[in-house]
Amino acid sequence: MHHFEYRNGELHAENVPVRKLAQEYGTPLYVYSSATFTHHFKAFDSAFEGIQHLTCYSVKACSNINILKLLGSLGAGMDIVSGGELHRALKAGVPAERIVYSGVGKKHTEIREALEAGILMFNVESKQELERIASVARELNKVARISLRVNPDVDPKTHPYISTGLKKNKFGLDIEQSLATYRRAGELEGVEPIGIDCHIGSQLTSIEPFLEALDRVMKFYETLKAEGINIRYLDLGGGLGIPYNTEEPPHPVEYGRAVTERLKGTGLTLILEPGRVIAGNSGILVTEVVYTKDTPSKHFVIVDAAMNDLVRPSLYQSFHRIAEVVPQGREQRDVDVVGPICESGDFLAQDRTIPAVEQGELLALFSAGAYGFSMSSQYNSRLRAAEVMVDGDTVKVIRKRETYADLTALEEGSL
Ligand code: LLP
Repeated sequence: MHHFEYRNGELHAENVPVRKLAQEYGTPLYVYSSATFTHHFKAFDSAFEGIQHLTCYSVKACSNINILKLLGSLGAGMDIVSGGELHRALKAGVPAERIVYSGVGKKHTEIREALEAGILMFNVESKQELERIASVARELNKVARISLRVNPDVDPKTHPYISTGLKKNKFGLDIEQSLATYRRAGELEGVEPIGIDCHIGSQLTSIEPFLEALDRVMKFYETLKAEGINIRYLDLGGGLGIPYNTEEPPHPVEYGRAVTERLKGTGLTLILEPGRVIAGNSGILVTEVVYTKDTPSKHFVIVDAAMNDLVRPSLYQSFHRIAEVVPQGREQRDVDVVGPICESGDFLAQDRTIPAVEQGELLALFSAGAYGFSMSSQYNSRLRAAEVMVDGDTVKVIRKRETYADLTALEEGSL
């Protein structure tokens, strides 16, 4: 469900015509819907209301502080993976006790900052990380609450780049290593093991892999309990998929029901780290057709958005629906929609059937809210796009379009 709909012959973001947004703020432009963010968060969070839980939005999906602020005001915690994301979450006013910190390579300074802020817990991914967190905590005279990220060796059946819970992946510790590491954590001064964590991958379109992972983790939880390790939190990570094209991922209610059934009566507080399911369909990328070009083998639609704005098609061959902002009723054509970047890998769609659009017309790329702007870059010295948030009839620029001055600002002192 989202609030990007065609009304009176043109695409609207909530009550605002997207054409007007493009006229006013230029293209390429990320347009988000506040009502969609709110709806997605509430639908997800309420699916787990049968048990004690905390929904920690995965900041990496779409990291704008205005969006973090909106979700924080609805009661969300945050799942962070860097000092930068901690900075954003705190700046957005999210209470530190609602922040969990994941990631395989947390550095000394990042650990220190998170401890000073007083986050809920670190999801620890290796033995060396555990030792480092303990030593930083001792330096600060603090005790770090931790959980270990267990790699349950479950195939999430998604793109290999975004599978994380298989033995061959760099994430977490297998069950045996985890047991030894929990024992070590029990002896170490400066850390208190309070949780158990796993995250098996992203864009999952069925709940079976989640439940398989949960069963394995719960079995391990029983082992830990028998050892006298007092686990109070179970973090199941993120990963629930969204419909980009023909996928039919489970509704959060179905996922919530299956998980809460298994956890009822355990006394555990469940932590969830959804990113895509909250942000994905809450944003679109609007772009203008710069040229069309027909070659003997292809019709190209050259637009002003590129792989630096939305890298997902180039990186994962992922599908984003593309449609005219103001449909003209033209015949369909098989085209490649490409950007201006100097690489053949710079495409937004290949061999796609869309109406025969013309120069100057606007296209919308749907489901661009998650891993869209947050993965964007300045490659080819392109200015990063602006981001606007629509809320009913109102529009707020939540990130200005970059300028040439922004492009070189950090280099000037070195001349
Ligand atoms: N928790 C952890 C530890 C994660 O690594 C991730 C995503 C999440 C939560 C949130 O997962 P989600 O609910 O969004 O699936 N750039 C890729 C996705 C990378 C996901 C990385 N980790 C893409 O554009 O598809």
